[in-house]
Amino acid sequence: MVCLGNICRSPLAEGIMKTKVPESFFIDSAGTISIHEGEHPDKRAIKTAANHGIDISKQRSRPITKADFENFDKIYCMDVDVLADVVSKTKNEEQRHKVSLFLEVLGDHENAEVPDPYWGGMDDFENVFQLLEKGCDAILAQLKIKN
Ligand code: 4NP
Repeated sequence: MVCLGNICRSPLAEGIMKTKVPESFFIDSAGTISIHEGEHPDKRAIKTAANHGIDISKQRSRPITKADFENFDKIYCMDVDVLADVVSKTKNEEQRHKVSLFLEVLGDHENAEVPDPYWGGMDDFENVFQLLEKGCDAILAQLKIKN
């Protein structure tokens, strides 16, 4: 799960997805920028997840690395800027094929971005949570994965 800072959207996506897959799946998140590296998720993201019974408080922000393109089968990007940045870091077609826009799975290409809640309020974080939950369910249905 990849967003810009890895403190709002992708930590929530990681936390939600982890509740939905068997433990044998390795779910992680990263950002395209490193300015928040080592930080825990944004307090509002932690609170929003906690409101839904999910603890993301122990996550730490990290930038995406070259190794991620080898270690992961799927790389989901939260918006088109993040997608472009992540795609630019791929080194071959195999890696390129792992990368997609997270909400693309919902089929509505006009609204396929998870809006950045960083400059918003708790309502924006809740909206993001709902979008991420819908996206996670749709991705799992597409991949035919049941917990
Ligand atoms: P995220 O949100 O990409 O969902 O983690 C943001 C976090 C930090 C910044 C922007 C977006 N920032 O500009 O520092």
